[in-house]
Amino acid sequence: MLNLVLFGPPGAGKGTQSQKLIKKYQLVHLSTGDILRGEIAQGTTLGVEAKKLMDDGKLVPDEVVIGMISNKLDSNSDAQGFIFDGFPRTVAQAEALDKLLASKDEKISGMIALQVDEEELEKRLLLRGQESGRSDDANPEIIRKRIVEYQSKTAPVANYYQEQGKLQNIHGIGTIEEIFDNICKVVDTY
Ligand code: AP5
Ligand code: MG
Repeated sequence: MLNLVLFGPPGAGKGTQSQKLIKKYQLVHLSTGDILRGEIAQGTTLGVEAKKLMDDGKLVPDEVVIGMISNKLDSNSDAQGFIFDGFPRTVAQAEALDKLLASKDEKISGMIALQVDEEELEKRLLLRGQESGRSDDANPEIIRKRIVEYQSKTAPVANYYQEQGKLQNIHGIGTIEEIFDNICKVVDTY
């Protein structure tokens, strides 16, 4: 199986590149942000609780997202591989993912980390916020909070994979195609 972690700060292009990668490599896309927005749209209890945190730029609890991923792995047992987008976002989530995959005799093939500076991230998210309806793109204050949350809780996840020799950094500014080509060059070595 090909199991990729697509990593990077809010607005780095994880969702955009995932869409292209799932087509090329026939993978299942697992975005915890998309799953949570689905729960919000359906008005579930989980969605209502998650929305409060998401609209404040904060992470939802580890056990919630780990449970979601565990369910998705079980319900896609015939998949050729997965792209994890926006997960794992804490070291505890990364450890849990390794355990879940090990229980199925699988492992992460590699982490691809998109490098984009803060000015560009804010520009992209504010632009998207004008049309996406994503409430966490609504104003610069929430966007900055998401970036701060990323720096304090999520950035250490890159070290976790680096220690396993699985981290590849990719320059995340340029055209979507250029970045995709550079990601594929890495994926083709796995
Ligand atoms: P999530 O949905 O994961 O959002 P995010 O990480 O903040 O990132 P985005 O989805 O905004 O950005 P992206 O990297 O996917 O970029 P995209 O391709 O869209 O999480 C949302 C919230 O849910 C979190 O804040 C948290 O509360 C909660 N959550 C989710 N997962 C969690 C977890 N595991 N644990 C705890 N809480 C969790 O691109 C962004 C924009 O830029 C788009 O408009 C795109 O068109 C544009 N763009 C893309 N590439 C380029 C390019 N090369 N040049 C110019 N523009 C570009
Ligand atoms: Mg996304």
